[in-house]
Amino acid sequence: MTHAAPPLLVVEDLRTHFFTRRGVTRAVDGVSFTLHAGETLALVGESGSGKSVTCLSLVRLVPEPAGRIVGGRVMFAGEDLLQKSPAEMRRVRGKQIAMVLQDPLTSLNPALTIGTQVGEVVRLHQGLRGASLRERVLDSLRRLRIPAADTRLGHYAHQFSGGMRQRVSSAIALSCAPRLLIADEPTTALDVTIQAQYLELLKDVQASAGVAVILVTHDFGIVAAIADRVAVMYAGRIVEMGSTLQVFDNPSHPYTRALLRCLPDVALKRQQLVEIGGQPPDLARLPPGCPFAPRCPERQAVCDEAFPATVDVARGHTASCWAVPARTPA
Ligand SMILES: Nc1ncnc2c1ncn2[C@@H]1O[C@H](COP(=O)(O)OP(=O)(O)O)[C@@H](O)[C@H]1O
Ligand SMILES: [Mg+2]
Repeated sequence: MTHAAPPLLVVEDLRTHFFTRRGVTRAVDGVSFTLHAGETLALVGESGSGKSVTCLSLVRLVPEPAGRIVGGRVMFAGEDLLQKSPAEMRRVRGKQIAMVLQDPLTSLNPALTIGTQVGEVVRLHQGLRGASLRERVLDSLRRLRIPAADTRLGHYAHQFSGGMRQRVSSAIALSCAPRLLIADEPTTALDVTIQAQYLELLKDVQASAGVAVILVTHDFGIVAAIADRVAVMYAGRIVEMGSTLQVFDNPSHPYTRALLRCLPDVALKRQQLVEIGGQPPDLARLPPGCPFAPRCPERQAVCDEAFPATVDVARGHTASCWAVPARTPA
């Protein structure tokens, strides 16, 4: 795919570490990627690989004081978010970049009605009042196919099912018309039928608004259904990245292949990743070489010596593995 416009988001060598009594945990350790308007990038990888910390770093919500962004750049619409003041960042979040989290109950206020909560966001960002505010709130609920929206306005979070809560929190996230939506495992808590509905909804959002999406998921079925590109994370780094087709057709990192082998049958059933043999590494005690080496079926001597450079497998498809030969330029 070629893009005329510059990317909406350019992340360069992002590093976020946690400083604890156990030492320094390199949760995000040199992550780089770009994202264009209207594009959806899936972040996949086992638990603890740094997906959530990457997302939190982009919007500067890393839990402090233990967590700190120690390096890199996050260029969003041409400006480095890492250089912005906390007040400027608050304006960026919610207005330009919205987040949907795994458990929407934690992000919804139990004491306020849904109408009030969606309304607050709309009032804040669009300065609407009265009848036009109410119309706008109804609009955003209807857009996410929340039935009987006008009655539902007066209800509280606990009166909604998990799937509906996820829609409401998405309605809040999207009602300020963000340019980037970051969704961190938005469907993990939902049952399979509701998941499917939620994904349809996400597709509508992608299509209608041209929003760029970063979607964290364990589920390759979801990746196949809605992502343009995939980034595979391991031990705080992206070890393979490419279009969804490239990564599924020609998985080049042994870790990606292991993840894909763990899939029973994507077409039949959406399923969480089954464990890969061995343990993910301790991010506070990373070895000098490739962190996947101890679990890798293709381990060579060099793998224990240095981290492999990122090479081009094909145009737009990269991998960081000593066993992957660089493509010879055409
Ligand atoms: N609040 C925290 N304090 C200390 N370490 C943390 C904290 N949050 C995350 N980490 C470290 O960062 C690593 C990556 O976490 P995370 O990004 O949440 O993983 P993922 O989302 O891929 O499951 C964890 O394995 C952990 O070592
Ligand atoms: Mg996570």
